[in-house]
Amino acid sequence: MRLKHQITAAKLMGYNRFLLTAALCSSLLYGCAVDEAPSADSTTKTDGGMVATRSALASQIGADILAQGGNAIDAAVAVGFALAVTYPAAGNLGGGGFMVISLADGTTVANDHREMAPDRATKDMFLNIDSQVVEGLSTRSHLSSGVPGSVAGLLDALEKYGTMSRAEVIQPAIDLAVKGIVLDADLAGSFQRHIEEFIDYPATAAIFTRDGEAYQVADLWVQADLGASLERIKADGKAGFYAGKTADLLVAEMQRGGGLISHADLRNYHSVWRQPIKGSYRGYDIVSMPPPSSGGILLVQMLNMLETFDIAGMGHGSVQSIHTLIEAQRRAYADRATYLGDSDFYPVPISKLTNKAYALARFADFDPSKASLSQSTGAGQLPAESMETTHASIIDRHGNAVAYTTTLNLSYGSKIVVPGAGFLLNNEMDDFVLKENVANYYGLVGGEANSIQPGKRMLSSMSPTIVRKDDQPLLVTGSPGGSTIITTPLQVIINVLDHGMSLADAVASPRFHHQWLPDEVLIEPGAVSPQTQTALAAMGHQEFVLLEPDALLGDANSVMRVAKDFVGVADPRGAGAAVGVRASK
Ligand code: GLY
Repeated sequence: MRLKHQITAAKLMGYNRFLLTAALCSSLLYGCAVDEAPSADSTTKTDGGMVATRSALASQIGADILAQGGNAIDAAVAVGFALAVTYPAAGNLGGGGFMVISLADGTTVANDHREMAPDRATKDMFLNIDSQVVEGLSTRSHLSSGVPGSVAGLLDALEKYGTMSRAEVIQPAIDLAVKGIVLDADLAGSFQRHIEEFIDYPATAAIFTRDGEAYQVADLWVQADLGASLERIKADGKAGFYAGKTADLLVAEMQRGGGLISHADLRNYHSVWRQPIKGSYRGYDIVSMPPPSSGGILLVQMLNMLETFDIAGMGHGSVQSIHTLIEAQRRAYADRATYLGDSDFYPVPISKLTNKAYALARFADFDPSKASLSQSTGAGQLPAESMETTHASIIDRHGNAVAYTTTLNLSYGSKIVVPGAGFLLNNEMDDFVLKENVANYYGLVGGEANSIQPGKRMLSSMSPTIVRKDDQPLLVTGSPGGSTIITTPLQVIINVLDHGMSLADAVASPRFHHQWLPDEVLIEPGAVSPQTQTALAAMGHQEFVLLEPDALLGDANSVMRVAKDFVGVADPRGAGAAVGVRASK
């Protein structure tokens, strides 16, 4: 059957992306070939399924899989491998991620393929003999890498809930790697910004520079080694990555650079199927990621605190609604520092933290006219980061949906490419507590719950989330943004459910973030008017950080069911695309 794909909207670069988003539409299955005029509308709407990711090429591959009859899980796995080729800052083979799945029969599951600490990892491995954290060791060294989980997670998801073969979902990524992709301004610009970090490592420079010089827009970018690594996964499944040539190359690089990951660590890596965190908000079900993510728990906790308030009546952007959200965020993030870690190693009080009665008690000291003081609760430091994780949302016409978030931690992870294997290694070890109450890269602090132990998974904020109504997926969302991740889906959900916004407006709407410590509100331009800021300051919110247009909060590529159709939105803060699939005409 002939498929016809068309671009229905183009995206402007820079901050003007708030106004337009890229949206591509594929028509299919029954031969629909209706040409649609380019539109400035940021929403793609079709009736056969929808894929929204940070990369137009990856979204297209996901939509092609749906068009070929694959389900949302097939498409998510194809997207995962494609992002490793087309969005190397966060898409990966050498990192980890989470996948929250809502199946047509009403079942929900979560796949945890977060990296694990190597067997030789120790609690104090990032401290010097004076017990001080060695700067850069947890982010820019071979020690910074956890045992990668993405390949295991993607293949386990495909095997359990997919319908297509490994070859069918991996081949599109191989083709992009081997034949190459033409660099757009987004990718070429990203390589140029990071070139100083790339040239420290010859194998990294060989991929992300052209003989040490910056790649330019319109250059053809070929990743032959990555293509060969993907071929080995296609041929041998998990053994094509965790054993054999790829494993040999990875372990050799670890030994060369003083890292810890061994053949045994790779052999022992496994993804885990977990029960998602479940909550409810005004009659809608919230399904999100459990530990080792903090995302699902905090999201549900904050929604529980907010549910008793008339958020819609307060008005979007009003002093009262921003104050109430900040206070919910402050309390939830304070709990994160103490209670959250890998629940396989630490007794995370999940049911207590997500209990509505607990939220009421936790919010009992909320004063509608006055800010609380974070310092009276504990210690911490500030988040400052760009986008280095990435989120994809997929929904199919059969009733399946996938929220998938993946990461190398910081942009391009440790910046270390495995020579001969063509992929970057994560620096996820920095998400552990390196030393009690010493801030990590994101300014997050913590204690024993998130200490380093062999085989343990570092605490994450990734929050792939599905909002359901009557056991069917309604809204799929999530975001990058390190510690700020969780407050992005929170605001997208509130914008849709409380403020009645369209998905496009809900995603584009300027956001703000508070994470308990430091006691300050990060605000995107337009999120808090000068008058509102003055009023909030008078209530005790003293610190406001206005974010630059190139360092905004999140990239919430989201999809939503609207009546019988699916709507997809690529967050205008990023350079992604939503690609729809038409089922009938
Ligand atoms: N590495 C960011 C996170 O997982 O929260």
